[in-house]
Formats: sequence, C-alpha cells, structure tokens
Amino acid sequence: MENKKEIVLSGIRPTGSLHLGNYFGALANYVKMQDDYDCYFFVADLHSLTTHPDTSTLKEHVKNVIATMLAAGIDPQKATLYNQSHLYTTSELYLYLNMLAYKGELEKTVTFKEKVRQHPDNVNAGLLTYPVLQAADILIHLAKYVPVGKDQEQHLEMTRNFANRFNHRYGEVFPEPVAFNFNHNLVKIPSLDGEGKMSKSVNENATIYLTDEDEVIRKKVMKAKTDSGPTAPDSAMPDYIENLYALMRLVSTSDTVSHFEKAYKNCTVRYGDLKKQLAEDMVAFVAPIRRRIYEIMEDEPYINKIMTEGAEKANEHANKTMVLVRNAMGLNYF
Ligand code: ADP
Ligand code: TRP
Repeated sequence: MENKKEIVLSGIRPTGSLHLGNYFGALANYVKMQDDYDCYFFVADLHSLTTHPDTSTLKEHVKNVIATMLAAGIDPQKATLYNQSHLYTTSELYLYLNMLAYKGELEKTVTFKEKVRQHPDNVNAGLLTYPVLQAADILIHLAKYVPVGKDQEQHLEMTRNFANRFNHRYGEVFPEPVAFNFNHNLVKIPSLDGEGKMSKSVNENATIYLTDEDEVIRKKVMKAKTDSGPTAPDSAMPDYIENLYALMRLVSTSDTVSHFEKAYKNCTVRYGDLKKQLAEDMVAFVAPIRRRIYEIMEDEPYINKIMTEGAEKANEHANKTMVLVRNAMGLNYF
C-alpha cells in the first residue's frame, strides 16, 4: 500500500558536533513532524566534501550526527534515517539537474559567496553547485516540506526553480517543496558574541554544542558580550543583549524570562546574574541530550543497523522517483 502522508525531508552536514542552532532550527522540528508525515532525515556527507575535503574524521562525524538525531528524539521506526552517499541515485539526479542550473544564478547564491570568502583557496565546482545537490536530495523523495533554519531559504527557492524547469522541459514529475518551521517564521539562533548565527563552521567559542560539558557551557555563556546596562527606562536593546534574551526564551522558564525583561525595562538588570541563570538553564537543557549522544555513540552496531535499514528504505523510495525521471527525460532506451 502506498503511504498517503505528505513527505518531509531534511539533512545536516557531518562537519562537527551539532549545536543549539541545529537543534532549534532543525532537529526539534524533525521530532515534531515524525508522527504526522512520511519523514526522511539524512546526514549530508557529500555536501560536507565541498568544504571539508579531509575525510579522516568523516566516519566519526557521520555517526555523531546519527546519534544526535536519535538523542534528540527521532524514532527510526517512524522516520527513515540514512546517510546521503548510501543513495547513489542522488548523484545521478544531481547530474541531470546540473543541466538545468545556470552559472549566473549559482554564483549569486548567498551561501556560495560566504563560502568563497571563508575558503578562498578551495572554490571548487561542487561548492558552486551545492544547491543543485541539495535540490536532488529533496526532489528524489518528492518531498513537500523541508524543515530547515532561515539560512536555507534561498536553497529552497532554487530547488523550486530547478523542479519547475524540469517539469516544463520534461513533464510534471516534481512537487514544489517549501521550507518549514513550526513557528511559521524560520528561526535563526544567534551566537553568543552577538555576531551572526551559531555555527559549527564559524565561531566555536560563541556556539553551544549539544556535546559541551557543563563547565564549558558555563564558561561560554559567562563570556558573552554585555555592557553596563540600560540607563533610561524602556530603552531599545543592543543586538548582543537581545540575543541573550532570545537564547533565554529557548531554555528558561517564562517566569525567568519575564523577570529579566522587567529588570531590563526598569534598568535594574544585572547581566552577571542573567548570564548565570542562562548558563544553568542551558546546562539543564543540554546535559541529558549530551548523555544520550555519548550512550548511543558507544553502541556502534546499533548505529550501523539504523544506517543500513535506513539506506534500504531510502533507496527503495528514491528508485521509484528515478524511474519517473528517466522516463520523462527519454533516457529509457529499451
Ligand atoms: P552550520 O551552519 O553550523 O554548519 P549546518 O549548515 O549543517 O550548520 O545546518 C544544519 C541545519 O541546522 C540547517 O537546517 C540549518 O538551517 C540549521 N541551523 C544551523 N545553524 C542554525 C542557527 N544558528 N539557527 C537556526 N538554524 C540553524
Ligand atoms: N545545506 C544544508 C545545510 O547546510 C544541508 C542539506 C543538504 C539539506 N541537503 C539538504 C537540508 C536537503 C535540507 C534538505 O544546512
């Protein structure tokens, strides 16, 4: 029997331990969606090759992402969990879609321009066509919803463009996927230094990892940038203070948040106290997840079993799409 549930898909690159940005931007949504949708979640190991050509730590990182997905609450009985390179047909679809993607639009992609700045010595063609590979990931499962953070919105728009071009040229095969977040607005979890988002690739010391030990979390939070506090009632918050409140809303109780909001408004806030409270609330949030990640990481046969079964299910599903794709394109010679 065909499954009638709508299809959800998302991926995370295995470039290091995952952090609170990945958790709230991606994982928390995955967990909420697994009951109501037909979900595919994968480790984007091929994408990580565009910026991390050294593969000596790849296996460890792939297992870390799988363990983190499981620790966050993804149930492999409900969602299909797999590794991108175990689905060879993704690379085939990527090749076909490359003929529908134009150099100009790829060069204009915000993430491409950022990565060129970060890795000026390694501006490879894979980096340029990163959004095409991402489109192949999504379209190969005919996914409708893609739970991602705000930074991925442009990639989703490009995926829709490639899907439409394919459909116009070869006939209707692909739906138009959209980025998805439960709060309607896609979230962007700020870094602790007030500059940009938390990110594994950019600012380690201002990023709280789900594997950070309690003391490390405390140190990072206490180092967050503050100032001497507001001097007039109801002043506007500088970005770096706003960010601390945003983080507090994620991990602290609403009583704690409103206590510190009031203190800001009437200029009695003490940032030392605020950071101590935030640090403790973060420790309480992260510690149980960290313990589960390490527990699962130690059980390698379990992780391997999840990846093998996931690859089987994902291949079965993708193979059906690829028959439609090859037929539509006229690549069916016999
Ligand atoms: P990073 O930027 O740390 O390298 P990835 O690019 O692997 O992380 O992102 C994996 C997922 O986590 C994506 O869906 C991305 O949108 C989301 N994500 C990453 N950082 C953040 C953040 N700071 N806030 C919200 N979502 C984020
Ligand atoms: N580009 C995404 C990121 O950096 C990872 C990713 C690869 C992805 N393929 C995907 C996300 C398909 C959603 C759907 O976060």
